[in-house]
Amino acid sequence: MKTSFTPGKIWNDTDGVPIQAHGGGILYINGIYYWFGENKNGPTKQGGVVGFTMDAIGVSCYASTDLYHWENKGLVLSAVNEPIEHDLHTSKIIERPKVVYNELTKKFVMFMHIDTKDYQYARVGIALSDKVTGPYKYQGSIPPHDSDSRDMTVFKDEDGKAYLFHSSEWNAKMYIGELESDYLHTAGIYTKNFEKDYREAPAVFRRQGKYYLITSGCTGWDPNPAQYAVVENILGPWKVMGNPCVGSNAAGTFYGQSTFVFPVVGKLDAYIAMFDRWNKHNLGASRYIWLPICFLDDQMIIEWHDEWDLSSFG
Ligand code: DGJ
Repeated sequence: MKTSFTPGKIWNDTDGVPIQAHGGGILYINGIYYWFGENKNGPTKQGGVVGFTMDAIGVSCYASTDLYHWENKGLVLSAVNEPIEHDLHTSKIIERPKVVYNELTKKFVMFMHIDTKDYQYARVGIALSDKVTGPYKYQGSIPPHDSDSRDMTVFKDEDGKAYLFHSSEWNAKMYIGELESDYLHTAGIYTKNFEKDYREAPAVFRRQGKYYLITSGCTGWDPNPAQYAVVENILGPWKVMGNPCVGSNAAGTFYGQSTFVFPVVGKLDAYIAMFDRWNKHNLGASRYIWLPICFLDDQMIIEWHDEWDLSSFG
């Protein structure tokens, strides 16, 4: 029985196999947390624009009721061996998958960063499923807001509206835009944020009427200082607040990079920040860092813990 989180250590699934869900996100539905992420269980190769890359495998899904024990639900979207032009071809990049549920269409909608190894293709891929655990059917990719899109995430608000956050203009700006009610297209309403700040790895959440966004700088697989911003209107203008991480190794985000933040259901004001600790020499051996977030008004504080559990939320 696992009763705690051990950031940076190997996290096994309920079969005793290390979890493969990098750059991932969580969807909570009907009492179950689903963790979607990149399966990187393959050889790391030298190459790509940042020196280390690998063939795409696809998107994994794990399920848990307590956040400690994760059952492997398999590869819910797989890379394909042919044709070579396909967005999901193994030679491509499939990163940062996020899934939201659309109440109108009753579909689970998966968004992901689709790219070529040189990161020039820069699009958002979309896949749909009737069941949360897939299989997800790939619909194709879009250049959202007629622009390039690399690191990205999707945030579904309490009113059912969903927003796409994507690093654009070669990462110089973070575009934030509303999606159509079916979540399959951008609605055309969007803003360009953090101009010339070069932010990626967006992780968004809502707390007490405000939105928070954690991002990283752009240094490939290597860590850099995180930054967060706060706003009342999700489209901005966002107020940059600084690095939420404190203590030793905070300047390198505890050797991690943001990927997602989610509320713990049934706990008051309890949010978990998810980071990836990339191992660029062996990407499949990258580890997970989940840490509790503390708040002082709208100031966010994230401290390192070798081990912690949900009782730290009270
Ligand atoms: C940083 C991004 O956040 C990751 O998702 C990945 O694209 C790496 N860069 C590749 O270097």
